[in-house]
Amino acid sequence: MKIESLLIHGGIDGDARTGAVNVPIYQTSTFKKGKFDSDNAYEYSRSGNPTREAVEKLITDLEQGYAGFAFASGMAATTATLSLFKTGDRILISNNIYGGTFRVIDKYFNNFGIHYTLFDSSDITQLENKIDDSVKAIFIETPTNPLMGITDIVAVAKIAKKNNLLLIVDNTFMTPYLQKPITLGADIVIHSATKYLSGHSDLIAGLVVVNNKELAERIVFIQNSTGGILSPFDSFLLIRGIKTLALRMDRHNSNAKVVSEFLRDRKEVEKVYYPGFVDHPGHKIQEKQANGYGGIISFVLNKDYDYKKFLESLELITFGESLGGVESLICHPATMTHAAIPYEIRQEIGITDHLVRLSVGVENVSDIVADLTRALEL
Ligand SMILES: Cc1ncc(COP(=O)(O)O)c(C=O)c1O
Repeated sequence: MKIESLLIHGGIDGDARTGAVNVPIYQTSTFKKGKFDSDNAYEYSRSGNPTREAVEKLITDLEQGYAGFAFASGMAATTATLSLFKTGDRILISNNIYGGTFRVIDKYFNNFGIHYTLFDSSDITQLENKIDDSVKAIFIETPTNPLMGITDIVAVAKIAKKNNLLLIVDNTFMTPYLQKPITLGADIVIHSATKYLSGHSDLIAGLVVVNNKELAERIVFIQNSTGGILSPFDSFLLIRGIKTLALRMDRHNSNAKVVSEFLRDRKEVEKVYYPGFVDHPGHKIQEKQANGYGGIISFVLNKDYDYKKFLESLELITFGESLGGVESLICHPATMTHAAIPYEIRQEIGITDHLVRLSVGVENVSDIVADLTRALEL
């Protein structure tokens, strides 16, 4: 099946018992055991629930992995994945990564003796120099949040394989519709399904997909032991959202292209980060490994420009956290999504106060451009 069809019919397609076209919401905590020594498929919803299983099978099909797992948030998915490591282990993480991911590694896993080294994932020439016996994994996002740096997944996967490291890719920005990291050599894919996968800014969810049985067994154990599972209702909503992903991503892609070109021509804008530009340093790699550039654009307003006034005066575009919804959303990474990253690192990599991140929605693009024009000209 092609991906557009798989989005609708992948995983568990409808309900075999009743013929319902949607998987029912199994709103139950527990399941009848019946016979004393029966080996039932479901026992207790933390260990397994049919609605959650449907979204887990769906994401497995979409990412072409071995098994998938649904969590209560993207951060719960990341936390479960990082729980694969133990005291003394070190993880190489991209120096431009979602602030919450950096925070959980820097301030939480650090307490358990799991350490990290930052590296520049847009230029991996120095990556192998950072590997020693303590390093067990490489963690990347591509494109990076918020600076849209592109990492060559195949090249990093080769380094990971050669050194016996796990490659973990946060695929939130692209989704499997545009990019499938496991097919490019990654071992684990993580999603904040809160974003494009659900697509309507109405739930918080996270997904993990692994590429082999051993990792699957370990994540099953972690998921059941630590319990950060996705509820049946949110699993249902997520399946519903995923069905229209292709339509939405096509529109996000085409709208972002128009908006990026508009922004690039504005005198109030100093720089636009968008991998669809042919002169973006990662453009060729993006063309090779993905089927589009996605809907996120980051841009720097001129130094003398009042970025607070700009953000506050947008009307159609919502000034707020998150991304990937049908509505256009704009945020200020330095004080919002990436506030957990120390000031010096933020300055070094370019998350300055004049940087804003725009998640281009699926509205009529002329309305998005009109709103930006009005706010820029105030
Ligand atoms: C790239 C990326 N990964 C992970 C997360 C965390 O996901 P959640 O907010 O669903 O916990 C986010 C949230 O913004 C994100 O942008």
